[in-house]
Amino acid sequence: MMRVWKKYKLYGLSLACFIIVLEFFIIKSKTGNQMVNSEEGFHFNTRELLKIPGQQPNWRQQAQMIKTRSILPRYLTIGIPTVRRQKTSYFFETVDSLLNCTTKAKLSDIVIVIFLADFNSTWKQEMSTKIRNRYENLLNNGNMHVIEAPRDFYPKLDNLEHTFNDSEERTKWRSKQNVDYAFLWLYSSDLSKFYMQIEDDVFTISGYLDAIKKFIAEQKNDWTCLEFSTMGFIGKVFHSKELEKLAKTVLMFYDKQPVDFLYIYFNHLNLQGGRIIRRPTIFRHVGYHSSLPGKTMNAADKYFDNFEKSLKGDNPTAKLFTTLKVSPDFPLDLAYSADYGYFWSQSAPRPNDTVHILFDEPQSITKVIVVTGSREHPNDKLEHARLEACLSVQLLGANNIKCYNTLTLGSFKNGSITIDNMKSLTNFKIACLKIVVTKEQSWWLIIKEIAIFLH
Ligand SMILES: *[C@@H]1O[C@H](CO)[C@@H](O)[C@H](O)[C@H]1NC(C)=O
Ligand SMILES: *[C@@H]1O[C@H](CO)[C@@H](O)[C@H](O)[C@H]1NC(C)=O
Ligand SMILES: *[C@@H]1O[C@H](CO)[C@@H](O)[C@H](O)[C@H]1NC(C)=O
Ligand SMILES: *[C@@H]1O[C@H](CO)[C@@H](O)[C@H](O)[C@H]1NC(C)=O
Ligand SMILES: *[C@@H]1O[C@H](CO)[C@@H](O)[C@H](O)[C@H]1NC(C)=O
Repeated sequence: MMRVWKKYKLYGLSLACFIIVLEFFIIKSKTGNQMVNSEEGFHFNTRELLKIPGQQPNWRQQAQMIKTRSILPRYLTIGIPTVRRQKTSYFFETVDSLLNCTTKAKLSDIVIVIFLADFNSTWKQEMSTKIRNRYENLLNNGNMHVIEAPRDFYPKLDNLEHTFNDSEERTKWRSKQNVDYAFLWLYSSDLSKFYMQIEDDVFTISGYLDAIKKFIAEQKNDWTCLEFSTMGFIGKVFHSKELEKLAKTVLMFYDKQPVDFLYIYFNHLNLQGGRIIRRPTIFRHVGYHSSLPGKTMNAADKYFDNFEKSLKGDNPTAKLFTTLKVSPDFPLDLAYSADYGYFWSQSAPRPNDTVHILFDEPQSITKVIVVTGSREHPNDKLEHARLEACLSVQLLGANNIKCYNTLTLGSFKNGSITIDNMKSLTNFKIACLKIVVTKEQSWWLIIKEIAIFLH
């Protein structure tokens, strides 16, 4: 049964692929070489660029705002599109984070392509000057390109169909974004073996390049897109040789759907069925991290947190559940597993919020330690809560857990709890441990580590 289904899925995908290719040729043959009115669709130059790459042999040089020495192909191109922002810009922190997290030797593996994607040429000139002053060495060594797109690369952006019930403003914004990205991909397609794109307000971790190399090397099957962040268009890695195809696909539907959907369809068309996400992810979104509503974090604070585990408990296999809102980047399991990372809720704890640790088998426990808050976010600790042990438990649903024979072990003090006399509290095996919030707090919650010691 499974086989048959798989086969159909494959046929379906191939068919979809075929139809798209067919449509592409139909569109091409209909429009031929004539100039198309930009009100009606792609502008002349866009199609020229798409049709036969190389027809305008100089388009890449023309795109460079700062002339760049040509260099040998590198391992990874990192594309960063950026536009003028009304509020705080984290652009330079983003680039610095990429650079600070890489040693000089490794820098020769990467090339950063900065795409100034705003239509405001005053801003573009200002930015280009700032970038030149700040990263002169990188520009000279061919580690960095600064580019802009000709205005007539863009097809029409006004009076588009409002799909997804998006407003005029949003429709325009996301359609332009599709074209921005396509231009960046076309430009970047011959600079390196792999290509990764990030947004202009993220920061990364030390050793990110090794993490990327390792994950690429670990792939046993063919892949189209590897993801190093689950959010937005951040940390998506493609084979550079596929960028032109990706650009064409996204351009074809630029006014229909946002890029966040289109790249997933592209992966499907390329026969990658599901998303391949590296966990823990290695990029953090700056704006996203405001722990208190309306309060953005100080950009200087958040680069390196202490994500390593230090207590190294025995942690028998268990299922974890919480009533708190969970973000895909900081899943609850990270509080319990030995992996690098921690749990970070996306809501502030309220009375009776819980975290359940449900052991697969009841356990003889000698010691439990739970540590909350982190070095960079000491406020995101559990202020008022108690720890309970249940001797028997019934799992009725994700957050419908009935605990019986419950024993209160103690209360959190200053964000952590240590129970090292478990044997004197009970001789029975423990089925479940439960953290119960007793008072509202305004900060979100980081559970840095849960360590269970046996015997
Ligand atoms: C990067 O390193 C430089 C020099 O060591 C330092 O001044 C800067 O604050 C660092 N930036 C970030 C974002 O870590
Ligand atoms: C263009 O950018 C400059 C420099 O950032 C800014 O002063 C100006 O107001 C912008 N113009 C428009 C039309 O947004
Ligand atoms: C579409 O958007 C309008 C205005 O924002 C809203 O009133 C309407 O309910 C939305 N329709 C749907 C189907 O979401
Ligand atoms: C929390 O749960 C207890 C016991 O079930 C209940 O008495 C109390 O009203 C609850 N508090 C809130 C704020 O829901
Ligand atoms: C609370 O814990 C923090 C570290 O997590 C420590 O710096 C601080 O001194 C502690 N405060 C008290 C009152 O123990």
